[in-house]
Amino acid sequence: MSSLIEIRNLRVCFGIIEAVRGISLRLEEGEVLGLVGESGSGKSVTALAVLGLLGPTAQTGGEILWRSGANGARVDLLKQPASALRRLRGREMTMIFQEPMTALNPVMTIGRQVAECAEAHASGWTRREAKRKAIAALEAVAIPDAARRYGDYPHQFSGGQRQRILIAMALINRPRLLIADEPTTALDVTVQAQVLELLRDLQRQHGLAMLFISHDLAVVGKVASRVAVMRRGEILETGASQQLLTHPEHVYTKSLLAAVPTLRSDRNQPLARVNGAAAGAT
Ligand SMILES: Nc1ncnc2c1ncn2[C@@H]1O[C@H](COP(=O)(O)OP(=O)(O)O)[C@@H](O)[C@H]1O
Ligand SMILES: [Mg+2]
Repeated sequence: MSSLIEIRNLRVCFGIIEAVRGISLRLEEGEVLGLVGESGSGKSVTALAVLGLLGPTAQTGGEILWRSGANGARVDLLKQPASALRRLRGREMTMIFQEPMTALNPVMTIGRQVAECAEAHASGWTRREAKRKAIAALEAVAIPDAARRYGDYPHQFSGGQRQRILIAMALINRPRLLIADEPTTALDVTVQAQVLELLRDLQRQHGLAMLFISHDLAVVGKVASRVAVMRRGEILETGASQQLLTHPEHVYTKSLLAAVPTLRSDRNQPLARVNGAAAGAT
């Protein structure tokens, strides 16, 4: 059977800026593919191209073949009308981004926001059914006391909890693909580890395919089985994450690992530099 998604020679330009320069990637049903690279390498643009969210200033080339759930036929997402992409998003493919606060509506209770996700794509839900479904979804991402906290607003939750709420929203309609773009970058290290573990558990439980994007190869290695390394709009190498973590082929890949400061790093040494830019800057 063909891959769930196959990107062939994808190119994305914004005027004279070539953000993505002919990349090819495949993602199988139920697989976690990591996409790693320094800031500005074209990771988010790739994700937005898949989601059909690039905006009118982007010119694209190549193909993004998506295997439809209904009949297994493949469609090129770059050629689909906006209405078809809107139907896919939120139902078959969903996403979570770095900033959980900006992705939530600050003046609507989190319960309503989760319930609306369910209502938007499943016709015929009553409000009460959607509420029950939303509470179950919040419990599944370990929001304590979910039924009581249903009526609370985003600012009443911690950053880690807000990201959990967004994960609940992304998964409530049982998508086939989740695109997670730097989902833990804004969180502190302990919370980051918990959210990664939750994502990995839910991914396995649902047999979900996931494109997991981060500038941090060590983080990607925790969730992805295969990793593609991007730099300046191109893919430098692809491999099993264990292999890449232990035997990176490319000097650049090595530098993405070396750029992660550890408690054991010698603080008197300057941070490793990635491609001339100070490491850790995103
Ligand atoms: N809407 C846009 N208009 C112009 N340039 C853009 C736009 N979006 C992204 N870019 C440029 O494309 C390149 C890749 O960006 P991006 O995919 O966001 O990188 P990252 O790997 O950090 O996610 C960068 O040079 C960025 O400035
Ligand atoms: Mg990005």
